Amino acid sequence: MKKRIAIFASGSGSNAQKIMEHFKKHNEAEVAIVLTNNPEAYVLQRADNFEVPSHIFTRHEFYQTDDIIQLLKNLQIDIIVLAGFLWLIPGNLLKAFPNRIINLHPALLPKYGGKGMYGDNVHKAIMEAGDPESGITIHFVNENFDEGEIIHQSRFHIDKDDDLEMIKFKGQQLEHLHYPKVIELLLKKMREI
Ligand code: GAR
Repeated sequence: MKKRIAIFASGSGSNAQKIMEHFKKHNEAEVAIVLTNNPEAYVLQRADNFEVPSHIFTRHEFYQTDDIIQLLKNLQIDIIVLAGFLWLIPGNLLKAFPNRIINLHPALLPKYGGKGMYGDNVHKAIMEAGDPESGITIHFVNENFDEGEIIHQSRFHIDKDDDLEMIKFKGQQLEHLHYPKVIELLLKKMREI
């Protein structure tokens, strides 16, 4: 049976799109569902385009019930992939999927991580600090924002005249390239265990 991926996203979902593209005709894994807390999220349209089912949940459902866990178990999900998902993962979900929830962060953690550090906030902080380089991090999720074990990092150079859009663009290029491949590698490792 193919390994089954669940994507959690809160916004545009360009990374979700790359993951769905990567696994669309894959022999060993597939995206089984896209979940979001945001009924307006463009990721829902992207899921539709790939004929991937989606589920919108409320804060109550996510933090006060086991409904999401039940849904993921019923779908026989093997890995949960956060792609621009902005809510902290609750303990019951972490417990139900130990070492099976990963996140993408648009900086070289532990720099520029933590609550409130997402999307443009991160790129702004990097630009204001005048750092000569930045990058992306893919890591396991634990009960704190951006703190689990690091699986992958890649870097890019920041030129003196790079503006926010350019820093974001360089990061996104790396995200789109690496996230699907890292997911594939992790699933392969899971099969070998
Ligand atoms: C990505 O850049 C991802 O690294 C970031 O949100 C963006 C989502 O973009 N995640 C975080 O900041 C998490 N702390 P997308 O919706 O186009 O995939």
